[in-house]
Amino acid sequence: MIDLRSDTVTKPSKEMLQAMYEAEVGDDVYGEDPTINKLEKEFSELLGKDRAVFMTSGTQSNLSAILSHCGRGEEMIVGNVYHTALDEAAGASVLGGIAISTIEVEESLSIKDGSIKNAVKPDDPHYPISKLLCLENTSQGRAIPIENLKRNHAEAKEMDLSIHLDGARLFNAIEDLKCEPKDIAKYADSVSICFSKGLGAPAGSILCFPENLEHKVRRQRKILGGALRQVGVLGAACLYAVKNNIKRLKEDHERASFLAKALNPYHCKKNGKDLHSFTNMVFFEPIEKKGSDLFSFLKNKGIIISKPCPETRLVMHLNITDEVLNSFIKTIKEFYGD
Ligand SMILES: Cc1ncc(COP(=O)(O)O)c(C=O)c1O
Repeated sequence: MIDLRSDTVTKPSKEMLQAMYEAEVGDDVYGEDPTINKLEKEFSELLGKDRAVFMTSGTQSNLSAILSHCGRGEEMIVGNVYHTALDEAAGASVLGGIAISTIEVEESLSIKDGSIKNAVKPDDPHYPISKLLCLENTSQGRAIPIENLKRNHAEAKEMDLSIHLDGARLFNAIEDLKCEPKDIAKYADSVSICFSKGLGAPAGSILCFPENLEHKVRRQRKILGGALRQVGVLGAACLYAVKNNIKRLKEDHERASFLAKALNPYHCKKNGKDLHSFTNMVFFEPIEKKGSDLFSFLKNKGIIISKPCPETRLVMHLNITDEVLNSFIKTIKEFYGD
C-alpha cells in the first residue's frame, strides 16, 4: 500500500517503538515525567523560549496557545487559508468566545503588508478587542520567508498584538529556508510544533512560549483534556523523531521536487504554470482522461491519494522511498498510456 495523502500516515518504526518501550516515565501532571521534562527543556532552548509544554496534538497546542493569549469578546486575526482559521472546528470561538477574523494572504500564503493594521479594530463597544495574530509556517507546504515574518511581527507589535505561530511543520520550513529554529521563533510569542507529521511520531506536539504564559497554558491544556500522566511513552517517540528524522526531511523535499517534474506533463497548467513542489508537498491537478478516473485506477493498484478536486495534495514522508516513488510515477504514466 502506498499512501500519499499526508505525512501523518506513517507508523512508528521498530526503533521508535523500542525507544517508547524503554522510556523512563512518571506522572507528568505532577511534573515528574523525566522524558517529558527532557523534551520540554530541549525545545524551550532550541526555540529560544522560556518554557515548552507537551501537547497531544497540533490542534490542542494551537488552541491552548490561543486561549492563553485571548479571552471572551476578544479577537484573533489569522490568514484565511491557515489551519487555525479553517481546520480546527473553530475551537477558539466554540470554547473561548473568541472572534476569528480572517485576512487575505498573498499567493505565497504569507500575510500581506498593511493587512494586519487594517484588520485591527478601533477600541469601540461595537467591535471585539483585537488581541492576537496567528501565523503559519509552513503553510500548505510553502515556507514563508523570514523577511515576511519579520514585517508581520513589526506590524503586529505596533498594533499591540501577541503573535502565535502554528509551526506544525516548522522543521520543513527550517530545512527549506536554511535557517535555525530561533531565526523563525523570534518573530512569534508562542510557537507550536508537531512531531506526528514529517517527523513520524504517532502523536505529540509541543508549545513553546514566554514564562508569563505558563500558568495559563497548563490550565488550558488541562481544560482541553491534555494533562496526561505517564506520557513519557509518547515523549520518547518524539525525542526519537527529533534525533533521527529531522535530518532526513531534506530527502522528502528532494523527492517532492522530482515528483513535480515527473508529473508536469500530466498536470493541468493554470495560466501555463508548470507543476512545482513546496517543501514535501506537490499540488497536482491531473489532466482529465475521458471515461477514466485516476483516483479509482490508483486505488485498484493499492495507491491512496486524496480525491482530486480538482487538485490533489501528494505528500512525501518516511515511507516514500525512491523505489516507492518511481513505482507511483510509473503507475501514473500507465494511466495516461505512456
Ligand atoms: C498546519 C497545521 N496545523 C495544525 C494541524 C493540526 O495538527 P493535529 O492533526 O495534530 O491536531 C495540522 C494538521 O494536519 C496542520 O497541517
